[in-house]
Amino acid sequence: MEKHQVHVVNQTMHHHVLNRSIAVVGSGNMGTALMKGIINAKLTTPEKIVACGIHLGKLQNLSAQWNIGHTLNPLEAVETSEIVLLCVKPQTVPKVLDQIKGSLHERHVLISIAAGMKIEYFQKRIGKNLPVVRAMPNIASTVDEGATALSFGACVSEEQQRIAISIFEAVGEVVVVAEEQLDAVTGLSGSGPAYIYMVIEALIDGGVKMGLSREISTRLAVQTVLGSAKLVKTSGLHPAILRDQVTTPAGTAINAIHELESHGLRSMLINAVATATRRSEEISQSFSKPNYQNDKAGDS
Ligand SMILES: NC(=O)c1ccc[n+]([C@@H]2O[C@H](COP(=O)([O-])OP(=O)(O)OC[C@H]3O[C@@H](n4cnc5c(N)ncnc54)[C@H](OP(=O)(O)O)[C@@H]3O)[C@@H](O)[C@H]2O)c1
Repeated sequence: MEKHQVHVVNQTMHHHVLNRSIAVVGSGNMGTALMKGIINAKLTTPEKIVACGIHLGKLQNLSAQWNIGHTLNPLEAVETSEIVLLCVKPQTVPKVLDQIKGSLHERHVLISIAAGMKIEYFQKRIGKNLPVVRAMPNIASTVDEGATALSFGACVSEEQQRIAISIFEAVGEVVVVAEEQLDAVTGLSGSGPAYIYMVIEALIDGGVKMGLSREISTRLAVQTVLGSAKLVKTSGLHPAILRDQVTTPAGTAINAIHELESHGLRSMLINAVATATRRSEEISQSFSKPNYQNDKAGDS
């Protein structure tokens, strides 16, 4: 039943975004992942996408690969588009905004993925009451398994909200949260892949310690994490119930669980999310100073 509803919603979204022109300003890891998702999900035709960046060769390759337009000039990209996907690094944002603000109008929707940069900052810097969407995606968007949280500025219409949702649904899961919660999202799903990589690495080493080859141990560890996540997602069961189901009395799993509990695994992860959230708040504060500008910064 739930699945059916999701499907219907998706069809509506599909319809809404179809044939929109999209400028992707900053065609790096995330910009490229989003373009690929948009094209694969057929949200719009490739000719209606224009990739913008600073290295012509890279842009030409993207153009040739997907039949999309390209330009080195962000102003030109924005002028010909209805949706502006801003995918540059936070320190490049002020410069790019100053370049494009002249041609940004209420008909545009600006979708920014720059970590820590608040909706209010964009509106102030642009000097117009522009519809601004803030997105916090994660790196798994590059393999269509992203986890993205969106927050909508005050003047984002319902249709524009649906457009933003469908763009990020093309590369994974989407949730909508209040802007104040984006720091917690950054602490959980934004930074989360780093924690899980450590878990995977340690499981591999565990297998190697107990005599498995690194290759076999890697394949087993990766598939164990992927499969466990998939089971939580598809069953809808609480992870504790799934854990109980694989924990037989006096068996192997309960002995391992006792070991993990005695070292505070769950506390450690809760603290990791909390610490990353606080760090995100700090970074966000520094970007929020009214005149935040970092013209000299490169993009790395
Ligand atoms: N990666 C993540 O996991 C993640 C997660 C959440 C949010 N984000 C956010 O996503 C944004 C992009 O991250 P990323 O990992 O995709 O970085 P990235 O790969 O470095 O991409 C940034 C792109 O911006 C381009 N660029 C630099 N200066 C420009 C300018 N003046 N005009 C137009 N384009 C310009 C760069 O071009 P060149 O390639 O030619 O140098 C590069 O392709 C950041 O704001 C980050 O906070 C990233």
